[in-house]
Amino acid sequence: MEKLGIGIIGCGNISSAYLTAMASFPVLDIRGIADLNQGLAEQRAGEFNLVARSIDDLLSDPQIQLIVNLTVPKAHVEVGLQALAHGKHTYSEKPLGVTFAEGLKLAETAKASGLRIGAAPDTFLGGAHQTARSIIDTGVLGMPVGGTATFMCPGHERWHPNPDFYYEAGGGPMLDMGPYYITDLVNLLGPVAKVAGFAIAPRSERTITSEPRNGEKIPVHIPTHVSGVMAFESGAVVQIGMSFDVAGHKHVPLEVYGTEGTLIVPDPNKFGGDIELLKKGGSFEPQPTTEPYADGNYRSLGVADMAHAILSNRPHRANGDLALHVLEVMEAFGKAADSGQTITIATRPERPAPLSQSIVDGRLAR
Ligand SMILES: NC(=O)c1ccc[n+]([C@@H]2O[C@H](COP(=O)([O-])OP(=O)(O)OC[C@H]3O[C@@H](n4cnc5c(N)ncnc54)[C@H](O)[C@@H]3O)[C@@H](O)[C@H]2O)c1
Repeated sequence: MEKLGIGIIGCGNISSAYLTAMASFPVLDIRGIADLNQGLAEQRAGEFNLVARSIDDLLSDPQIQLIVNLTVPKAHVEVGLQALAHGKHTYSEKPLGVTFAEGLKLAETAKASGLRIGAAPDTFLGGAHQTARSIIDTGVLGMPVGGTATFMCPGHERWHPNPDFYYEAGGGPMLDMGPYYITDLVNLLGPVAKVAGFAIAPRSERTITSEPRNGEKIPVHIPTHVSGVMAFESGAVVQIGMSFDVAGHKHVPLEVYGTEGTLIVPDPNKFGGDIELLKKGGSFEPQPTTEPYADGNYRSLGVADMAHAILSNRPHRANGDLALHVLEVMEAFGKAADSGQTITIATRPERPAPLSQSIVDGRLAR
């Protein structure tokens, strides 16, 4: 089968999940991996039987068509622009950028160059989320009404060895976890039209309780508890809570309401999970997962879809328009909080096409 040449930049934590899952997608021909930290690139290359190369070497290799960017959020746009400047398509980890303005610059540069950009999350392509999408698309929920999206935890300083960046500009619960929830909701309900919200930082410093810096205090520069509302173009109004300040809660990750029913959607940071449907007058019933990619780690499914799409000249699903919209929405919560105003969202991506067939075996998805 035809393959696409892939170069990976960024060999940190998440690269292991990508490199493991990429082995399931024969369309991806990984021609090298690189990192600012060459030792790390070599270590990862050894673990996965790949070749560690310099960043410049990857960028100037004519056999590489797509750069997968797994660097830290602050570097996503800078590395993406480098890839585009070398004539490569590029797919990055989430978020697309740390501000809408820089994400827009990347998107406009790609369009002007005739190249594609893509971005995580791709968990919305997972079997549970595609099944939820297919249930909604039958119309069983009736007219769209609303929903809830909830990620709330006590903060990442409990487990991350160097949690400082979560409390600096570009960090915070919204930019860190919002992409999973908002992307899935756009997949389920279509684009967001308006945002209202509040954002607070109850504490000006946090105490690390993970090793090796246990007991050290770090400053907080961003809101750590965001509570808002998204008005979707479809008419649905969804409450969202993203927090690093909540000791515990009993909400499910996502609920979607229509006039005729309610759908419980599992964790959008995972590909699978339990779906439940309640039809008006009835009770919640578990729903079988009917779509592929539900049972495990498929991080890079969005890259595989993008590679197939490039080779067959069709749109890809985890695309730049979608990621830019999600970034605009996430930034709007801060703007709403600062101004006390409702923020109108300018971008209107198309809802990605359902992923209705497996691409593991190399067949092209529609
Ligand atoms: N760790 C996770 O569990 C996880 C899960 C989902 C998504 N992500 C996302 O993945 C991305 C990376 O996270 P991570 O946990 O792997 O971070 P990490 O800090 O472990 O790794 C990032 C790597 O990028 C490299 N890097 C930074 N700037 C670079 C540049 N300009 N050029 C080349 N290399 C550069 C660093 O040297 C580092 O090795 C982030 O966007 C994060 O949001 C992480």
